[in-house]
Amino acid sequence: MQVYQKSLWKETFTSFSKFGEIIKGECFDRNLNVLIVGCSDGKYVFPFLEQGHQVTAIDNDPVSLYGGEMKFKTDIIKIDGLVKNLILEGYAESACTVIQCDLMDFEYTNQYDVVLTSCSWHYSKNFKYPIKQIINKIKNFVCRDGLFFADYMMPIKEKHFVLEHYIPPNKLRNFFGQQWKIILDLDLGVIEEEPHIGKEEWHTHHYGAFASKKIF
Ligand SMILES: C[S@@+](CC[C@H](N)C(=O)[O-])C[C@H]1O[C@@H](n2cnc3c(N)ncnc32)[C@H](O)[C@@H]1O
Repeated sequence: MQVYQKSLWKETFTSFSKFGEIIKGECFDRNLNVLIVGCSDGKYVFPFLEQGHQVTAIDNDPVSLYGGEMKFKTDIIKIDGLVKNLILEGYAESACTVIQCDLMDFEYTNQYDVVLTSCSWHYSKNFKYPIKQIINKIKNFVCRDGLFFADYMMPIKEKHFVLEHYIPPNKLRNFFGQQWKIILDLDLGVIEEEPHIGKEEWHTHHYGAFASKKIF
């Protein structure tokens, strides 16, 4: 599965291809109920829709969902947003449920076969919640035999080491008890990235990738 090539975030690092292999191995050809937490304009929404899966996408940033403008360097960039992207790509409204809300306020009636979040929890808007509470909330979205995937930021700068939302290597697994089988727990090291929205210069990130299955 390839990330959506029109996303604002298409160039940022992800372990999505590894996640895709795990999904193929664990879920065979089933149709899946997928939840993308921090979906932005659809980087991970479209690859699941292309495979015929049902997607619920949540983000609390209205511009990423409904379009508008963002500042990048000296330019103002026009953003179509997820909802318009879905129309442009020809998807029926029923294919993807788009919800503008904070993940901590997301009241769900379903649990999901696949829950994926990519580089969301280090956003400052999340610092008011302990990281354990955020991860527990996301874990609860996963159904039995379902899969949890996260790309996340590990600490790299001094300021990150005092923030628990940048999780050091080998620590994320401690949030997952016996109910969970850890499938992937990677420290991907420091990766240099070109400028993108929110980061106007070449910069470095320390990425982690994690996958776990809820076994009972
Ligand atoms: C780095 S962006 C990446 C977007 C997406 N993962 C991608 O790669 O296309 C992270 C997204 O997570 C969203 N996000 C962060 N914290 C959130 C929260 N508490 N509730 C909902 N969305 C959140 C942000 O608004 C942002 O759109």
